[in-house]
Amino acid sequence: MAGPVGGGRGGPAVTGGGEIPVSPTASPAAGGPSAPESGMTGATVTLRIFKGVPGGELGYATYEVPEVVGMVVLDAVHWVQRNLDTELACRWNCKAAKCGSCSAEVNGHPVLMCKTRIDTLRRGPITVQPLRSFPLIKDLVTDVSRNYEINKMIPPFTAAPDDGTPWRIAQMDVDRLYEHRRCIECFLCQDVCHVNRGHDLSARFFGPRFFVRVASLEMHPKDVLDRRDLVRDLGGLGYCNITKCCTDVCPEHIHITDNSIIPLKERVADRHWDPVRWLGRKLRGTSPPPEAP
Ligand code: SF4
Ligand code: F3S
Repeated sequence: MAGPVGGGRGGPAVTGGGEIPVSPTASPAAGGPSAPESGMTGATVTLRIFKGVPGGELGYATYEVPEVVGMVVLDAVHWVQRNLDTELACRWNCKAAKCGSCSAEVNGHPVLMCKTRIDTLRRGPITVQPLRSFPLIKDLVTDVSRNYEINKMIPPFTAAPDDGTPWRIAQMDVDRLYEHRRCIECFLCQDVCHVNRGHDLSARFFGPRFFVRVASLEMHPKDVLDRRDLVRDLGGLGYCNITKCCTDVCPEHIHITDNSIIPLKERVADRHWDPVRWLGRKLRGTSPPPEAP
């Protein structure tokens, strides 16, 4: 019954597992079963939700939820928590697709549960799993702290001390940075990237979310630091082979690959491999380290 434990990222992987029987645990303190909601369609939605903790029984519990017009997966999970299984763990906050907390895999696709309408999914049972690339904590909740460790490795925005104010920045540059700033840190891109998911390279790979962050700093006209060697060496930019899976799942529609990763790769190549620039640096005595990528 127990699924395998020990994913490539140093924690339990969520793959498989049998059926877990669940007896209703709606708590009287929570008000007991909900009163009928307006907008009920009369249909029922079947949810298969991953449950368990590392070292314990891992599997899927099945719940029947009354469908409501416009219902999203997070609504259905909340209904389960309130009416059938108060111990079901799920992380969420804004329910408006802006906090990035309710990331999960629905029918195998990394999505925000609050943005995924039930009526857009194929008919039949809906499977809800935690993000597969991160260590499991409980049920739908994973440990994404590795992302915050990566974030700390990236030097923040730094302007020249004598740059003066007010700054004047071309609208074109503002627009370019704006796209990167839309990131809500849902980590769906980190979850789906095969470098994280299929290989044990997390210690050598920042991942798409952090390539977006580095790109936004490198493209900022007022930033004076150079993070190209960092993103190449510590960040493992070369491991990205442009599969674009990260772009496909981004709920903010950031063109992660085209507008962050490829420009970063070009900048790294310019620094290390462009012969004209190399000659210029040689003459100025500012050559970068000569080692291969
Ligand atoms: Fe989420 Fe997109 Fe940010 Fe990745 S880049 S963390 S998918 S919002
Ligand atoms: Fe991964 Fe995105 Fe590159 S999914 S391989 S970071 S294009």
